Amino acid sequence: MYTSYRTHTCGELSARQIGETVSLCGWVQRVRDLGRFVFVDLRDRYGLTQLALNAERDPKGYELARKLGRETVVRATGRVLERESKNPNLPTGEIEIEPSDLEILAPAQLPPFLIEDETDGSEELRLQYRYLDLRRPVLTRALTLRAATARAVREYLDAQHFLEIETPNLIKSTPEGARDFIVPSRLHPGSFYALPQSPQILKQLLMVSGYDRYYQICKCYRDEDFRGDRQPEFTQIDCEMSFVRQEDVLSIFEGMVKYVFKKILDYDLPPLQRLPYDEALRRYGTDKPDLRFGLPITELDAAGSEFPVFREALAQPDGLVAGIRVPGAADWTRKQLDALTDFVREPHRGLRGLVWIKYGTDGSWKSSIDKFFSPEGLARLCAPFEPAAGDLLLIAADRTSRVRKALGDLRNHVARQAQLFDPASWSVLYVVDFPLVDWDEESQTWQAAHHPFVMPHEHDLERLSSDPAAVRAQCYDMVMNGNEIMSGSIRIHRSDIQAQVFELLGLSETEQREKFGFLLDAFRFGAPPHGGCAFGLDRWVMLMTGGQTIRDVIAFPKNSAGRDMMLDAPAPVDAQALQDAHIAVRGESN
Ligand code: AMO
Repeated sequence: MYTSYRTHTCGELSARQIGETVSLCGWVQRVRDLGRFVFVDLRDRYGLTQLALNAERDPKGYELARKLGRETVVRATGRVLERESKNPNLPTGEIEIEPSDLEILAPAQLPPFLIEDETDGSEELRLQYRYLDLRRPVLTRALTLRAATARAVREYLDAQHFLEIETPNLIKSTPEGARDFIVPSRLHPGSFYALPQSPQILKQLLMVSGYDRYYQICKCYRDEDFRGDRQPEFTQIDCEMSFVRQEDVLSIFEGMVKYVFKKILDYDLPPLQRLPYDEALRRYGTDKPDLRFGLPITELDAAGSEFPVFREALAQPDGLVAGIRVPGAADWTRKQLDALTDFVREPHRGLRGLVWIKYGTDGSWKSSIDKFFSPEGLARLCAPFEPAAGDLLLIAADRTSRVRKALGDLRNHVARQAQLFDPASWSVLYVVDFPLVDWDEESQTWQAAHHPFVMPHEHDLERLSSDPAAVRAQCYDMVMNGNEIMSGSIRIHRSDIQAQVFELLGLSETEQREKFGFLLDAFRFGAPPHGGCAFGLDRWVMLMTGGQTIRDVIAFPKNSAGRDMMLDAPAPVDAQALQDAHIAVRGESN
């Protein structure tokens, strides 16, 4: 790391350099005045090194060091000495530097929060001063791991003959289903570019052009509501391949994830399961199941039950009674069970309640529905769980979708609460066989579940007109610890199938031409069979670093309200800029 300023970084000196004269540069993390000695912790991106200044040997340096403020930028030149009291927790903990020359390169104002992993700054404050926040080792580690991940991805894809090709950011609307960010055109009054929600159409055009293995690590922009795992601009590892079937794509990207896990985490991922969508919903209540723990959903036969909640649920055409078995939890208290009931009652889950049944270690049955079931009746109802003595059974009854959603969430909640899995373990799998279309009650139309270019399953083609809901798509997600980190599909390259799908979606010829005319035109010039996928890089890195939100792995993220607190964006622009962009200022035009 040698430059004319420094010979080493603050993270690399050890006993091997004892006796050498070195120069280090960095920020003052902490000054400890112990009377005869002043110790200064000097920090840079690579680590911390201790400077030791002796009052007798170097009174001038000692006086200067005592007064150093936090975050002052200094350069220290001196000999590497063996420390008297070593710090085994620090890579440089065996040594210290006795500076013969201490130079202040830049003074620093007192930072508004502590620049250490355990900080006293709120997230809003840290986002406002993100350049200071980024000095904290936890963020340095996250960004370093992010860069290493992108590098490993490139290594793998380059070796597989993928070509990295850039696509433009000023484009037209793409079919990902979120709202576009739009950019006014100065040269074309009243016209707008859209920022890409993904390079979806462009990468398909690249396949028409013959670039049969493409990738790009690129920014995507979506004007949608915020969540911890979403940002209005985020990064995809976007890929497309020609002359492939679904399994070809899955195995190439299974290879990529394994390569990255090995390289970055030294972790050997086992083969990735391909879990059908239907089964994911039935057993785990979600299309992104976390399989680090069991607790599968078991469907029960409650027909003929006297219990009104079961009776009412089953009276509906899509009613379901189902539950999960929590091993060894029969001793959970009433308070704990009430909290679980409140959890499933939260408005977005919307269950009216939760039935609990305890199969005691003494073989007894006790439940919240004792009034309606004898112990034998409970044992019969619960038989499909194959319960062991000491288990707790949690049961829900309502419409199928509601029961599955609530039990899926409950499964995650209980597993975390009861610490039923090793947080250092990984669950990575593919979910496959998604439905092609969903019925939209509001508009009374079929909507593409992913986008309109997804190829239906070969065996389901004849159902396109007769039973659209049953048509499976050649569409897949990769799910990591319960998060969707990748999504993709085989695309339609045959115009007869595309016409059928457009018809099903109710897209008129005019709409087809308006929205996707250039793609349909391109496909007339020889489109190869193709398919691909895109990984959400931020989400993937967040999981690998153990971060809580994707903001933790993005250098300059927006806050949860979509604002850049540091740059203060979005912000009004001056009247001239609006005029140039042909945008009328509100109130001026009327
Ligand atoms: P999709 O829309 O599923 O597919 O996006 C692919 C992956 O990108 C990540 N992702 C996000 N990450 C952070 N913030 C967001 N707002 C956000 N939205 C999506 C997710 C997701 O799995 N063109 C298709 C891919 C294809 O078919 O090839 C697409 O964009 O991890």
